[in-house]
Amino acid sequence: MAASEPTAASGAAQHTVGREIVVDVKELQKYFGRNHVLKGVDLQVHKGEVIVLIGPSGSGKSTFLRCLNFLEDPTTGEIEIGGVHVVCGSHGGTFKKDVHQIRMKCGMVFQEFNLFPHKDATENVTEGPILVKRDKKEAAIQKAQALLTKVGLADRMDFFPSQLSGGQKQRVAIARAMAMDPVLMLFDEPTSALDPELIGEVLKVMRDLAAQGMTMIVVSHEMGFSRDVADRVVYMDDGYFIEQGPPSEVFFHPKDDRTKRFLRHILPEKEPEHAKELGIVEVDQELPDPDAGLLQGPVGGALNEDNLADTAMPEIPLSGGPSGETPLPPGNEEL
Ligand SMILES: Nc1ncnc2c1ncn2[C@@H]1O[C@H](COP(=O)(O)OP(=O)(O)OP(=O)(O)O)[C@@H](O)[C@H]1O
Ligand SMILES: [Mg+2]
Repeated sequence: MAASEPTAASGAAQHTVGREIVVDVKELQKYFGRNHVLKGVDLQVHKGEVIVLIGPSGSGKSTFLRCLNFLEDPTTGEIEIGGVHVVCGSHGGTFKKDVHQIRMKCGMVFQEFNLFPHKDATENVTEGPILVKRDKKEAAIQKAQALLTKVGLADRMDFFPSQLSGGQKQRVAIARAMAMDPVLMLFDEPTSALDPELIGEVLKVMRDLAAQGMTMIVVSHEMGFSRDVADRVVYMDDGYFIEQGPPSEVFFHPKDDRTKRFLRHILPEKEPEHAKELGIVEVDQELPDPDAGLLQGPVGGALNEDNLADTAMPEIPLSGGPSGETPLPPGNEEL
């Protein structure tokens, strides 16, 4: 493995990022009929790097993830994952073999878990290794048990999906993806179908994976997770990657007006209580008086140690800007 070096420019990420490139995407385009969904996106991801992809509904985030592991057939462009290179749009025998190899190298976790309902947790995790990787059953069971223990489900190994909570199901799904020894984990809004009190347990497993050096691309609007774990946040809009950088830059000093506008929408919509405390209101609403002080919201709730505490609820970056500033202090940019 290539030598590791500290994450560039991100004070947030706890792990290290190697020089080895795990994902190299060039000029990726995807059409659904006449609908041009990916309009030429490029992305390089280094070993151990955590990328968080954000953007409005319909901007192409899921399509991008699904093209990476060929759940969708990309129209043109090039994808290289774990050393396997595919020129999209060709369909010969080599293409099919390489696509199969790339699929084997990617673990994917979906919003809706996608577990087999008639199999228990252990069987859900062993299915891929036994059928696809041809692992011996006993070895696959041992590995599944170790993975289920790691995600905190040692006492639920023989439970069926219908007997598990949403958070537990999603942790089984993560263990199932990890059982294939992926070089890359793709997460498509893994917590958005969960009740708020179950989100934290899934994010914790994802934080652990990141800390162990797993390379990850995560579509998520859990801002606190992104602030703490992402090496890079990528803002996607209308089929393009508009802006990217460490969370301290993209959340606290977004450059493009589309990013600013989106953040102003997403915070009040996804995390209204915290947004109110920060004095962030929706774009079309009246903005509070900028002279009222950055940490004083319209409800008069000044930020303090108590309401900065981590909870199971979705978090937003209450602190962590390079100088401790709040994200998008109201009224300081034109929208
Ligand atoms: N299988 C499909 N067939 C046809 N069109 C599709 C298909 N999947 C996605 N699209 C279209 O591609 C565009 C991007 O959809 P996509 O699901 O990638 O957006 P998204 O950014 O993930 O949105 P959301 O935040 O709502 O999940 C949309 O216009 C959608 O209708
Ligand atoms: Mg989506």
